[in-house]
This record gives sequence, C-alpha cells and structure tokens, in this order.
Amino acid sequence: MHRTHTCGELRITDINTTVTLSGWLQKSRDLGGMTFIDLRDRYGITQLAFNMETNAALCEQARKCGREFVLKVTGKVIERSSKNANIPTGEIEIEVTEFEILNESQTPPFTIEDNTDGGDDLRMKYRYLDIRRKPVRDNLLLRHKMSQQTRIFLDAQEFTEVETPVLIKSTPEGARDFVVPSRMNQGQFYALPQSPQTFKQLLMVAGIDRYYQIVKCFRDEDLRADRQPEFTQIDCEMSFVEQEDILNMFEGLVKHLFKNVKGIDIDSLPRMTFADAAKYYGSDKPDTRFDMKFVELKSPVVETLHATSLLPAGFPVFDNAELVVGICAKGCAEYTRKQLDELTEFVKRPQIGATGLVYARVNADGSVKSSVDKFYDEATLKQWAEAMNAAPGDLLLIMAGATDKTRKALCELRLEMGTRLGLRNPDLYSCLWVLDFPLLEFNEEENRWFAMHHPFTSPKPEDIALMNEGKFGQVRANAYDMVVNGVEVGGGSIRIFDKTLQAKMFDVLGFTKEEAQAQFGFLMNAFEYGAPPHGGIAFGFDRLCSLFGGENSIRDFIAFPKNNSGRDVMIDAPSEIDQKQLNELGISVDEN
Ligand code: AMO
Repeated sequence: MHRTHTCGELRITDINTTVTLSGWLQKSRDLGGMTFIDLRDRYGITQLAFNMETNAALCEQARKCGREFVLKVTGKVIERSSKNANIPTGEIEIEVTEFEILNESQTPPFTIEDNTDGGDDLRMKYRYLDIRRKPVRDNLLLRHKMSQQTRIFLDAQEFTEVETPVLIKSTPEGARDFVVPSRMNQGQFYALPQSPQTFKQLLMVAGIDRYYQIVKCFRDEDLRADRQPEFTQIDCEMSFVEQEDILNMFEGLVKHLFKNVKGIDIDSLPRMTFADAAKYYGSDKPDTRFDMKFVELKSPVVETLHATSLLPAGFPVFDNAELVVGICAKGCAEYTRKQLDELTEFVKRPQIGATGLVYARVNADGSVKSSVDKFYDEATLKQWAEAMNAAPGDLLLIMAGATDKTRKALCELRLEMGTRLGLRNPDLYSCLWVLDFPLLEFNEEENRWFAMHHPFTSPKPEDIALMNEGKFGQVRANAYDMVVNGVEVGGGSIRIFDKTLQAKMFDVLGFTKEEAQAQFGFLMNAFEYGAPPHGGIAFGFDRLCSLFGGENSIRDFIAFPKNNSGRDVMIDAPSEIDQKQLNELGISVDEN
C-alpha cells in the first residue's frame, strides 16, 4: 500500500497512530542530530523527522534525497516540539521507521513553492512542475468546483448537456477560424468552432428546449491576458423565451456560483444600457466597483446648458472638441506636478493616444486652480467643480476630442485612477447587465456593416422599422453582456427565428443570397421547419474562474495554456509536419 493517509490530513488527534505517506520532497533540513523533510502531495505538507541517534541508516538515506524525489515513508505520528501554525498539519510530524525512494528527480528548474523564482516561459515549459505549486493547483481545483456547480444549477433547471461537433464549418463570431485540412476531401477544410452558436440554435429547432455545454471554442485572434486561442464557454440556449427570461435565469446561475463557490450573496444585477455605459464609463464593460462617473462639460449629443455656461470660448482645444468630459478623483488635489505629469504621459501613450490632459485642483479653501487658468476664470472653474460634484481636496481630470476616442481614453484614465486609489479590490465583486447593444457597427476599412454580436441576433422589435428605413446604425439589438469588475464574462442575445428577417440581416451584412445559402443554408433551411422563438448566452468560463480566483490573467486557470504567440512551449506546438502527412492531405508548402 502506498499510503494510509494524505499529506494534508494528520492532526494532533492522530498521535501515536502508525501511518504510511507518499509524496514529493518539498524541502529538507539537516540539523546534525535530526533531519527533517517536508513531504508534499495535492492535499498538503507533512513534516517527516529522522533521528540520527535512533536510526542512523535511515537518516543517512534521507539526507541523500533531493528536491522532488518521490518518497514513501511509514512511521508514528508524534507531537512536534516546535509547531507551525501556518499549516493544518503543523502540530505533528512523522517519526519515520521505514523509508523508500519511489523515484528520483533532477533538480527542478524553479522552486516548487508559492512564490517561485521561475519566469513565465520556464513555468510553461515545465507546466507539470508548475501545477505542483499550490497557487496553480488551487486554481485548477477552483475551476473544477465552478464547473461542478454550473452543472448542478443548470441540471436543476432542466438544461440538457449536448455535445456538438468540433470539426465544422466557419461560425461567424468575428475572429479568424482555425482550420483543419481534410484528407478524405482533398483541398477542403473544416473550421474549428468559434462557438457552438449555429448548433445550439439547431438544437432549439430540434426541440431540446434547454441546452448547455461546457465547451472548448477556438478563435485565431490576438492574445491578451484575458484571451486564449482555445478557451472554454458555458454555452446555453433556451426556447420560448424573451430577453427577460434569459436575464433572470443566468442571473440565477451567477448568484448560485458566487454563493456556492465563494460564499458571497449577490444582489439583483443592475442593468445599464450600452448608451449609458458609453456615456458614463466610456466602455461597454464598466468597472462599477467604484463610482468616478464621467461628467460631460460639453456634450456631443445635445447642446446642453453646460456647453454654453461652462465653456466660454477661448481655449481652442475645448472649443473645437466634440466632447469635453471629465472625472473627479476624490482626495487627489494634493497630487504633485510629477504625479500629474505621469498621468498626462499615461494618456499620451500610443495605446491610448490622447493628445493631453487638463486638470483642476479643488483646494481646501474652495479655490480652484487648473492647468488652463489662462483660458477660464475661477468662477467658471468653480462651476466645473460643482458640475462634477467635487469637494475641497478633489482633483478634476478632463479630456477633450472626438467622442468615441475621448471616451475610450478617459475610460483608461478612470481605471488607472481606480487602481492608484485602491478602488479595484479583487475581493469585491460588482456585477451588472449591459443591454441594448447596437445591432450593427460600420467598419470603415471594409466599408460595410458588421453584426456587433453575431448575424443571428435579433433587432429590438420596435427598431425593425429603422432597419427597413436603412438607419442601420440606430438599430438596437436584443443583446446583453454580463460584466463583472470591468470584465465581459458573458454575452448573448435573443435570436432571429424568422427566415425573412434572417435573410434581411444577411443582406445588410453584404452576403448575396447565394453566399448566405452556401454558408448558412443549413440554418435557414431549419428555420423552414418550425423554429421556436429562442435565445441564449455564453459565459467565458476561464474569465469567470480567474475573476473568482481574484486574478486578471486567465492563463493560470487553464491547465495547459498557450503563450502570447499562441504556442504551447511544453509540447512545442504548432510544429511542422512530415512531407508524407502533407502529401496525404494534398497540401504543398511553398518553401519560399
Ligand atoms: P461571445 O463571442 O461574446 O459570444 O463569447 C462569449 C464569452 O466568451 C468569452 N471569450 C473568451 N474568453 C477567452 N478567450 C477568448 N479568446 C474569448 N473570446 C470570448 C467572453 C465572452 O463574453 N455564441 C455567442 C454567445 C451567444 O450569443 O449565445 C458567443 O460566443 O467572456
């Protein structure tokens, strides 16, 4: 028998029991008369004690073992003389009487400890060693718990898990496809699913009524901390529902997960329109853990009272701007010149691309001093402070320019200020729904309309008229995103289930009838046979896990992730393949 107990379970109540443990050597300490080894397995660490006086041979053997050797020991549980309150087994140790080296190990390339000295590349190359570290292991255990709880909730709501195929045809989610050549159909390719979107809609036509799948999706897009080329969705679809039904159901799922995985009660999720999210936060995924809402001093939409009374002409940057908008950073009036310069540099970085930043300090005595004192008198500056709800001690940060660009830039600055002020606590959760997304967005480069979500998303019934009038930019969709702490964790929509409307949508998106038929004929045909009203949502499972784990990067919540170049450095993929394999596939590689 390899073990009677795990390395995480023995306590003071087990004293005098004879036990057998197996695990990895985490650390050993040779104190002359005594040698101690920390033995580790998935469940914890137990200290082993070897006494030179009572058992010199065993002690000698133990001293020869290096880090990560696999050991099996038998001995008696005894009380420790110096206890370790930091670990659950810290009151006991094992007085070893039998000892076996099950396997040796080379010295690992980095330390297998919570804070490792291994850089990202090394950790990924030896991911199996990285996963021996508690923080990574804990992330995988969290992920397991999340998928268990997801299944428990959805099963109780009569959702059926159905597997959909992986070798399919392009699904239009907006990224590039990964493709797989077909040996039996030379010159032809499968695409890997960017999502199971079309299949889940077919399952609704098929009468499955409530479908879910925890499923791998593949998207060939630029990678970031919250994006992987293969990632996992909790993909769901329901029949005979309206938007409200979906929002309620999946609010339920998220509350269930918070309650059962983190022990946190979440209130009803607030709802914000896409238009408000843009106006007040400059983003369709606002981080609502903190306030610091945008205040427009000059609005692009209506010539508000502000536009005239708050900005008398004189400062060309503001005079010529479509939008002048600011945030109030509480308690930051004392920022030094250097700190303010840093903020200006921050917004001028190419990734943000702003041309500058205007600030105004609301001093303790109520006076206001700004970087544009030349252009505005103090009475005007005080009006800004009032409009922005600023109190003495606060700092106003103001940007101006074209609407979308300025909002995006101020959004970045708001997040930066939130971080600087410690307002983005990863242990606090702020969830919301963002609703009423535009159905379509115009792409200048390609000079055509694209579906903002995907082409199967239904317009709001009251906006269908706008669509018929060709006012595509004004049509709102029955689409929704769930946002947690500024991260888009899920998105979905009510689908078009009427073949005429679907045909109209393909037409607006620039597909000819033939192209639409060739690419989505299977779905359009299915709609000829009694498609029920339906809608759904997909959650980014890796993102949900990383949020629950309190981290930004999804990589450490995936057992074997890809690096930023889309490579798996451990197995060295992607890699070249044999000429023979290429020949079988009918693919010739141009050497140049
Ligand atoms: P969408 O494209 O919004 O919707 O994707 C749903 C969620 O998946 C997550 N996500 C990702 N996570 C990690 N890496 C990626 N590369 C990545 N891309 C997306 C996000 C996102 O909110 N078929 C629709 C859903 C529907 O309409 O039902 C879809 O896939 O958290």
